[in-house]
Amino acid sequence: MKYDFDTIIPRRGTGSLKWDRRTDLDPYWVADLDFVSPPEVVSAIEERVKHGVFGYAVPHEGLEEAIIEYLAEKQGADIRKDDIVHLGGLVPALSLAARAFAEPGDALMTCVPIYPPFLGVHKDAGLELISVNHTIKKGVAGMDWEMMEAMVTPKTKLFLFCNPQNPLGRVFPKEDVIKLVEFCHRHNLILVSDEIHADMIFDDESTPHYSALRLPEEFQKHIITLLAPSKTYNIAGLGYSYAVIKDASLRKKFITARGHTLPEINCISYYAAEAAYRHGEPWRKELMSYLKGNYDLVKTFMNENFSEVETMNMEATYLSWMDFREMKVDNPARIFEEKAGIFLSDGSYFGRAGCCRFNFGSPRARIEVGLEKMKSVNF
Ligand SMILES: Cc1ncc(COP(=O)(O)O)c(C=O)c1O
Repeated sequence: MKYDFDTIIPRRGTGSLKWDRRTDLDPYWVADLDFVSPPEVVSAIEERVKHGVFGYAVPHEGLEEAIIEYLAEKQGADIRKDDIVHLGGLVPALSLAARAFAEPGDALMTCVPIYPPFLGVHKDAGLELISVNHTIKKGVAGMDWEMMEAMVTPKTKLFLFCNPQNPLGRVFPKEDVIKLVEFCHRHNLILVSDEIHADMIFDDESTPHYSALRLPEEFQKHIITLLAPSKTYNIAGLGYSYAVIKDASLRKKFITARGHTLPEINCISYYAAEAAYRHGEPWRKELMSYLKGNYDLVKTFMNENFSEVETMNMEATYLSWMDFREMKVDNPARIFEEKAGIFLSDGSYFGRAGCCRFNFGSPRARIEVGLEKMKSVNF
């Protein structure tokens, strides 16, 4: 390996959400990697900082070029500069979509368990939330098409989709993405596709990502695709993401709904994002192979030590979902916190109590420590 993912970097006292929220606990919760970003990303940030002037920013040409090239090469999408809406984060975009495409009293649909803001943004727009359970067969998540048909209402205006899926680690195949857009089309829903984990797939050959951007043009009138290099290259704290909206009138509605609710975007984040897309690929490949090693470790450990706990056969991300419901445990994260001093994410925030999420995006030695601490707990 050319890059070092093994060294444990002290992060406590650096103003880190993951490490400094609960300094009494060992953290394995929020989706944040304990690795230094690729050297080219760090250099790009240093170069921009050296300038010393940090006024309001616009996305520079190099960034837009890098995004267009990335979308063409990695996502197989042909995008124009005007299709891109730059944003200071992806969660605000979910909220913005809810406000732009529905009226108070309408509804939005999503599938659970899911990244918590998917279950909260409806409140920003006074909407009802319709949540459908994902199917899970042999540790692989799927869509419950029948239940979706049964639960959708004439008032439903949006579907929030997460692919690859957090927290289930699923890369939905092309057929599912097509079936989903047809469902949305039939019921007149805007499809909001969160693809922030698109570059975090263990094996791009056997489980390739099929971006909503590749769906036929006739559907693009109703699609918003959300992307960012932030998760993959560990620059989420800089706050940058973007939406791609191919249809001009849909894009206008989305931008208009922004009003004065979003801040200007961080001038440094633009340069970090460009460097990540232009130069990050060799680092990313090694990262994904390292994370796959961590995943194998966690999976084997869970099979050997918590055989009654359902875990996923993951295809992407570094977030392992653990379902303790068979063991009749209401809040496993709290038990691990109280008995082992480790901080996991509580499944109830994802719409499913009795489960928890373990972040294995850390040097392997830290993962081994976390798993040993888990093992010390008797349920
Ligand atoms: C599916 C998903 N969407 C969005 C985000 C956060 O995006 P941002 O930090 O750009 O708001 C996360 C972070 O974990 C995520 O997992």
